[in-house]
Amino acid sequence: MERLPLTEADYAKLAQLLRRVDLFSALTVGQLESILPSVLFYEYRARERVVSQGEPGDALYLIHAGTAEVRSRRWLLFSRRLAELGPGDFFGEMALLSQERRSATVVCREPCRFFVLLASDFRFILEKDPALAGQMRRTADRRRFLSARGG
Ligand code: CMP
Repeated sequence: MERLPLTEADYAKLAQLLRRVDLFSALTVGQLESILPSVLFYEYRARERVVSQGEPGDALYLIHAGTAEVRSRRWLLFSRRLAELGPGDFFGEMALLSQERRSATVVCREPCRFFVLLASDFRFILEKDPALAGQMRRTADRRRFLSARGG
């Protein structure tokens, strides 16, 4: 995993990219600008683990490039695939919203690039944008339901 630097010049491009992410498409220009300095950019290798089931959650991930697999382990040796996520999808919201530990493990299927929002910035944004908060909660509830009934 490597943190990629974001220069001043990259920010205009980043704003354009975030606009294409469903999650951020409803934000105003002002709201978008206010979160840009909080966004980190990370690159992961194929098969690298991004979040691990059972760990505390400290960030939200938005996929810019690549695909990642969501896996859950119930018993010691038994792990199953819950979903495959690609560009524009996000993950890591469940632990942040519920204050519980990571519900699943997410592993890169190929080299991936993520926009990363740390928990404190994520909460700040949700406070400012109740519609976004509602949308996040609905996604988290739906995923929890799907995971409980077997993917
Ligand atoms: P979190 O529990 O913080 O960390 C693991 C993440 O995997 C979780 O948040 C969700 O973002 C994601 N996830 C869990 N279950 C599913 C599912 N059934 N479908 C898609 N994504 C999921």
